[in-house]
Amino acid sequence: MSRLVVVSNRLADPRKPAAGGLAVALGESLARTGGLWFGWSGTVDDAAGPGEGQVHMRKAGSVTLATVDLNQEDFATYYQGYANSVLWPVFHYRLDLADFHSAYVDGYRRVNRMFAQKLLPLLRDDDTIWIHDYHLIPLASELRALGCRQRIGFFLHIPVPPPLILAALPHHPWLMRSLLAYDLVGLQSQADVSHLRRYLLSEMQAEELGDGRFAAHGRELRLQAFPIGIDVQEFERLGAAPEAVQTRTALHQEYSRRQLLLGIDRLDYSKGIPQRVRAFQQLLEKYPENRHSATLIMIASPSRDDVNAYADLRQELEGLCGAINGDYGDLDWMPLRYIHRVVARRRVPGLCRASRVGLVTPLRDGMNLVAKEYVVAQDPEDPGVLVLSRFAGAAEQLQEALLVNPYDTEGMADAIQTALRMPLHERQQRHARLMERIREHDVHWWRRSFLEALAAPAPAILNPP
Ligand code: G6P
Repeated sequence: MSRLVVVSNRLADPRKPAAGGLAVALGESLARTGGLWFGWSGTVDDAAGPGEGQVHMRKAGSVTLATVDLNQEDFATYYQGYANSVLWPVFHYRLDLADFHSAYVDGYRRVNRMFAQKLLPLLRDDDTIWIHDYHLIPLASELRALGCRQRIGFFLHIPVPPPLILAALPHHPWLMRSLLAYDLVGLQSQADVSHLRRYLLSEMQAEELGDGRFAAHGRELRLQAFPIGIDVQEFERLGAAPEAVQTRTALHQEYSRRQLLLGIDRLDYSKGIPQRVRAFQQLLEKYPENRHSATLIMIASPSRDDVNAYADLRQELEGLCGAINGDYGDLDWMPLRYIHRVVARRRVPGLCRASRVGLVTPLRDGMNLVAKEYVVAQDPEDPGVLVLSRFAGAAEQLQEALLVNPYDTEGMADAIQTALRMPLHERQQRHARLMERIREHDVHWWRRSFLEALAAPAPAILNPP
């Protein structure tokens, strides 16, 4: 069996389930082959010169973690700059928030090249390389330029916008052409596949060969949707553990006369958090019977707070939550509980289960695994209702959720009211169907199907790009 080499900007210790479904799944497949996980150490080391980061090697069980530090300039241009102030907003359809600064793209190229140089000596001839996410789009082409012939797959965890939005990205021909160095590109949803397909045809004059295969610039590329799932069994175990049970019991006691609504996100403008708060306000206005009885718990964990758009969002949200609590709150009831901290993962299933409504309402999202976790955490006999944005990748699979348009405040308030009033048999039916789909397409299915597709006979390399 060939060894698996996973590359991602952020790593997690694969032995710790608290790190989340992706880390668990990748960790498991890495462990099977005694694999290697390569990426950024998470450390910014001012002493390191450009591209001079040391590779730190350590073992986590049978998995080898190889990480490099970034210096301040690389961190500012590659991570905060091009990845999170250009690619993240553009791929989430937010051209208005993109900051096209030429130093950013230079830093992005430099770090991708440096990663390729540091990774290459660690590779074996029969390795399978799996690169993840928008931070590392050109990594395969940098590796190929250094002579790497191994099979390389790429999975993009975020959405792909329509071609004309991508085309607004300065340097898009270079960036998108670098995708041709991969043998397989995996995306979250059919919508993403259709957008990238149209981009390849219209902007890259690619020839469509059928079965998701395209030819352009002397290379052949395969494109396919592999919607990511969660580790259902692991999450169920977490839900049965004492801390999840305690969290649930404590919430049930504290809110015995109320109905809880829950949102759990990173504090990110793609998540539609202010829109959700406004819809909740509209719910209290239009359906006043919810006053004194509905409480929205919003956990927004800190994220990328040095990037301007994130700092602005934080300010906006704090003002909004304060105003609603001030306007509607009473001595014995606060409508909103806004928590800007990380909540321990082991408490998440308890929080989900204690909540009658799960609000997952991003403006755009590659998949959104919280939607799947919310469903899995429910009691099948008395399940809560998932209110899900139609613009989350998860909506393609989770059609039995209450699907909403997060830009439509009143429509969202109506859907929340429907969720709060939904009869038991309908909640049970929807929950059972959602569970079937989530179980069938879990994270192991995702990993297996991607790696099997990557291992399928390779297209001929006509010319290295
Ligand atoms: C999203 C991205 C991941 C990223 C995560 C956390 O899920 O797709 O690649 O790791 O956000 O963001 P951060 O910037 O903290 O790594």
